[in-house]
Amino acid sequence: MKQKELIVSRPEISRRVKELAGDIARDYAGGSLVTIGVLKGAFVFLADLIRELDLPVEVDFVRAASYGRGTVSSNDLRLIMDIELDIIGRDILIVEDIVDTGLTVSYLKELFKGRRARSVRICALIDKKERRQIKIELDYVGFEVGQGFLIGYGLDCAEQHRHYPEVYCLKD
Ligand code: IMP
Ligand code: MG
Repeated sequence: MKQKELIVSRPEISRRVKELAGDIARDYAGGSLVTIGVLKGAFVFLADLIRELDLPVEVDFVRAASYGRGTVSSNDLRLIMDIELDIIGRDILIVEDIVDTGLTVSYLKELFKGRRARSVRICALIDKKERRQIKIELDYVGFEVGQGFLIGYGLDCAEQHRHYPEVYCLKD
């Protein structure tokens, strides 16, 4: 396999996830939240995040495909698995592993707003700004990363490497 470089360590992730959960719980205090994880990549982050969240929370998942087996983004986004919960009047938090072009989260945000959610916010573990194609406000961000293809902590390359507890950059 290719060489990999450590980008975010396990203790850094734990600390930041706790901070994000604290911010989120404060912002929604007295209310409740529907977290919607974007499969597959966000499942590890979502699992850690909700266990730090001191708030009534429901969990659902959506699956959107914007990447094939390689590492190049494509514009043809498809919804291949929908949520099950009724989100009318609910506060929604989209939970993503990484925002790259921004196409996925902006598509999902519009989708859930169109279903008459009360509010829709975005929480991303990693904000990778370099290739952003759409201006989109991310409400909660774990780490900002300039460039590179990242793996681990849910993030894959051709379905490999999701299980690493840390985030690495693939070196070519
Ligand atoms: P976007 O629609 O271009 O923002 O892409 C978002 C999706 O692309 C993420 O949910 C990831 O699944 C995938 N992705 C983008 N960058 C990376 C990366 O560096 N490593 C692994 N997956 C990535
Ligand atoms: Mg993803």
